[in-house]
Amino acid sequence: MQNLKIISTASYHPPYVVTNQQLSIMMDTSDEWIRTRTGIRQRYISKNENTSDLALHVGKQLLSQANIQASAIDLIIVATMSPDAYTPSTAAILQGKLGADKAVAFDISAACTGFIYALNTAEMMLKSSNWQTAMVIGAEVLSKLLDWNDRSTAVLFGDGAGGVLLQKREETVPLILARDLRTYGKMADKIVAGSTIVGKTFPKQVTSLSPFKMSGREVYRFATHEVPTSIMSAVNKAHLQLNKIDYFLLHQANQRIIEQIAKRLDQPLNKFPVNINEYGNTAAASEPILFSQVIAKGLIHPGNIIALSGFGGGLSAGTIILKY
Ligand code: ACO
Repeated sequence: MQNLKIISTASYHPPYVVTNQQLSIMMDTSDEWIRTRTGIRQRYISKNENTSDLALHVGKQLLSQANIQASAIDLIIVATMSPDAYTPSTAAILQGKLGADKAVAFDISAACTGFIYALNTAEMMLKSSNWQTAMVIGAEVLSKLLDWNDRSTAVLFGDGAGGVLLQKREETVPLILARDLRTYGKMADKIVAGSTIVGKTFPKQVTSLSPFKMSGREVYRFATHEVPTSIMSAVNKAHLQLNKIDYFLLHQANQRIIEQIAKRLDQPLNKFPVNINEYGNTAAASEPILFSQVIAKGLIHPGNIIALSGFGGGLSAGTIILKY
């Protein structure tokens, strides 16, 4: 029976490291505050590569690891809240740079839940078509959206990209066992970046976009309540018990949020791998980066059951239960 399989995973970060110490010279903050409130020690910041450039590094690795040509890809989805431009989509730019000429390509905008939404969309599109292969990438250059004078957001985010290649194979078990996707548009104003201004464009063109703004405490409360609910809902839909989940790969926004969620689910913290200390919050890139790292480290094996769960702008939340 034909089912989907993840045939490669990859990630990339720009080379330039910015430590908490460096930020504490630029603004009124400290390594101690950032570490104890968030778990972040450093982040990678792009100096000259845009979002599609980071995605391209990942796309090339995905193809070479799976030993397939760009011409074999049917679908490319990039999840991002920091695209190169309003148009063309980052996925279209990536498609062109890869030379994946037959692939249909588009972006998904769901902030830090973007990769979960994108993976679901790719799975559904492959299952309902004769397409064979999809590339799903989360890529962000959040540093270009930040107000570097606002310590309440500037210290939290970083740049990077990660992704997976999905292909139809003869498999008895489906890749995605269950999903739970949620959007809370009434809380849309809790995380905002890149708002446009209407009415000031004629006759004089004003093209400035608003920088990143977040109601940190409210998002914290949202995440610690809604993410466990979403995970439980997906686990129930998969007809599993929580202790059958081998690893929980959560969006890397804050170490304390991850610890709270582990506690609420009554699951041991060693089932929750983290890289927030090294990367900071990379929004849609956070989960595929972590996924590819734990696979590269040999932590996750074929047959393991993984809960991938994200939350963020929208507000939004989502969980996928997958059998790797
Ligand atoms: N350095 C030093 N002090 C700071 C800093 C900083 N970088 N930032 C804020 N402070 C100060 C505040 O001004 C405040 O001071 P006051 O008490 O004198 O008013 C104090 O620290 C406490 O501020 P809080 O905002 O209440 O701090 P909190 O403990 O809530 O931590 C944080 C803030 C880390 C942002 C936390 O609320 C959080 O993680 N929220 C969730 C964010 C998140 O998960 N986002 C994910 C989605 S992002 C997306 O979708 C793209």
